[in-house]
Amino acid sequence: MRLFYNFMAVLLILINTACSDKSNGLYSPDGSVRLDFSIDENSVMTYSVMVNDSLFIQPSLLGFTEKSGVALSKGMKLQDTEFTSADETWTQPWGENKTIRNNYNEMAVRMKNDADVSLVVRFRAFNDGIGFRYEYDIPGADSLFVTDELTEFNIAKDGVSWSIPANFETYELLYRTLPISEVDNANTPMTFKSGSVYASIHEAALTDFPEMTLKRTAGCCFKSELAPWPDGIKAKVAGGKFTTPWRTIQIGSRAVDLINSSLILNLNEPCKLETTDWIRPMKYIGIWWGMHLGVETWYEGKRHGATTANAKRYIDFAAENNIDAVVYEGWNKGWENWGGSQKFDYTAPYDDFDIKEIADYARKKGVKIIGHHETGGNILNYERQLDDAYKWYSDMGINSVKTGYAGGLPDGHNHHGQFNVRHYRKVVETAAKYHTTLDVHEPIKDTGIRRTYPNMMTREGARGMEWNAWSDGNPPYHHVMLPFTRLLGGPMDYTPGIFDITYESIKNSPDRKQWNMKDSKDCRVNTTLAKQIANWVILYSPLQMASDMIENYEGHPAFQFFRDFDPDCDWSKALEGEPGEYVVIVRKAKDKYFLGAATNEDAREVEIGLDFLEPRCTYDAVIYADGDDADWKTNPTSYMITNRKVSSEDKLYIKMARGGGQAIYFRPVE
Ligand code: NOJ
Ligand code: CA
Repeated sequence: MRLFYNFMAVLLILINTACSDKSNGLYSPDGSVRLDFSIDENSVMTYSVMVNDSLFIQPSLLGFTEKSGVALSKGMKLQDTEFTSADETWTQPWGENKTIRNNYNEMAVRMKNDADVSLVVRFRAFNDGIGFRYEYDIPGADSLFVTDELTEFNIAKDGVSWSIPANFETYELLYRTLPISEVDNANTPMTFKSGSVYASIHEAALTDFPEMTLKRTAGCCFKSELAPWPDGIKAKVAGGKFTTPWRTIQIGSRAVDLINSSLILNLNEPCKLETTDWIRPMKYIGIWWGMHLGVETWYEGKRHGATTANAKRYIDFAAENNIDAVVYEGWNKGWENWGGSQKFDYTAPYDDFDIKEIADYARKKGVKIIGHHETGGNILNYERQLDDAYKWYSDMGINSVKTGYAGGLPDGHNHHGQFNVRHYRKVVETAAKYHTTLDVHEPIKDTGIRRTYPNMMTREGARGMEWNAWSDGNPPYHHVMLPFTRLLGGPMDYTPGIFDITYESIKNSPDRKQWNMKDSKDCRVNTTLAKQIANWVILYSPLQMASDMIENYEGHPAFQFFRDFDPDCDWSKALEGEPGEYVVIVRKAKDKYFLGAATNEDAREVEIGLDFLEPRCTYDAVIYADGDDADWKTNPTSYMITNRKVSSEDKLYIKMARGGGQAIYFRPVE
């Protein structure tokens, strides 16, 4: 079934050919955001942004440089400026919101220089921010080597910012809250508050280009710093035409406006897949946490996790608990060389993992299998097997795959450069060919390509649950930072839901062996139990995992939330929150609502109006709250489950312990 697009586009084209006019302005549809482009007598191109009539981004440079001297920015002369507008509503097969409005004003500035380089800088102003990209056409050029991007984001007023450092290998870093002027470099999304405006700098539709990071050049001015090839070139372009990803700034008057913005998706291309009816959100469990805790192994042996018997036990549990799928890690040959050759075989199961028998068993029980491809960074080995591996899985009815890139890339390539961006896209396209959905770990950051390829469902790209198994762990503020930063790009496979918070069940197990050098010995999860449940709602992922070993769910009353949870939501809204402090998010799935609230190290009470519920309808609210004596550090598993009848006229007081949270399931009753 082709995606249905309901275009209500109002196209208004106004072409300004007056070359004497060297400055052009563009307003968002509601007039709150104004973007100005200017090119001076030395052909220096800049843009600036006003928000509610105050200067927000000071004049900031635009352009690129090229190795052999093709003038990608120099000597540009304005040709004409074209103004258009659009107001359309489109739908997607899954997402935080299935229906999205795309309403913007556009300004396409056409320029040319004496070297015959044509450049269009396409600006879009939305009520929730801006985006712009470069479209180059250099007749006669057979290849180009882009050496630098000049784009700046010169924030007019200092303020507070939330980001991780720039790094071309990993996003699994701790977030920092810093004055904007003290951030030396950052990865995007970099979120900040300047004056009364909340904003986040990121990129959309990253395709055949390196990722953009930010480097502070002076004051609060940041410049784009692209991930390089091993030879230092930033982007290699075949032919003389190239279009860059969009450079974006989401803008809001409240921090939660950024979460509720669809700007990143709106700047991506519509769905390219012929059909999407094979793509659906799922809840899953898997043979995973035991390996991270060190009680099981990925490789074959006495403590092997992915055995046929264990696999079937997980399938049985999924079938009995309204869970769609099971993932198995450590099922294929190659793990015995982990840290060495990283030469996995993607069609060779270990002898004690009878994949055909397991796949048959799962099919009979109505449970899906999520396959696993760890590459260890050896993407050449992976690409050689890519097509065969996806076909082999698909022939067995395995049409969802988790991938991983834990390890260095070959030949001096980094994880986030153009070389690997191409690789990640190749995997998305190959998976689509076999009607297979993806969950990518150690990915390239999410820039919204799920709109174009909805089989690219979820990814990691930040410190996930695994860090709690073998390091000091993710601090309580981490989970209330992610929605305002990492998740602005798109869904995250954080893998929430550890119920054995302090690892009591395995602490003294003779099977537990340290395998990761970061292991701090007294590892644990740094939240309360109720916050683990809330994270299933807050940390949006269309493939949502209950990550603990199933022994820790068996007979646990609080696991009922996951049984009831529907990952296929239709609508979402972030109601309240501040980055790194707290957040409250509600999602609707069919006629049910799920609310998640979480706090950082501070205990907190939040009053929430329930006016998001259908009017004149009574709901049974099942509330999973921190116990009165709960505290993430001293008493993390104290929780209580209560029931209330509520309607859209009611208010709820959400009381959260230090490092705590609350989850609510609203079910309509007659
Ligand atoms: C890192 C991934 O994030 C984790 O989920 C996975 O278990 C390991 N790599 C091994 O593939
Ligand atoms: Ca990881």
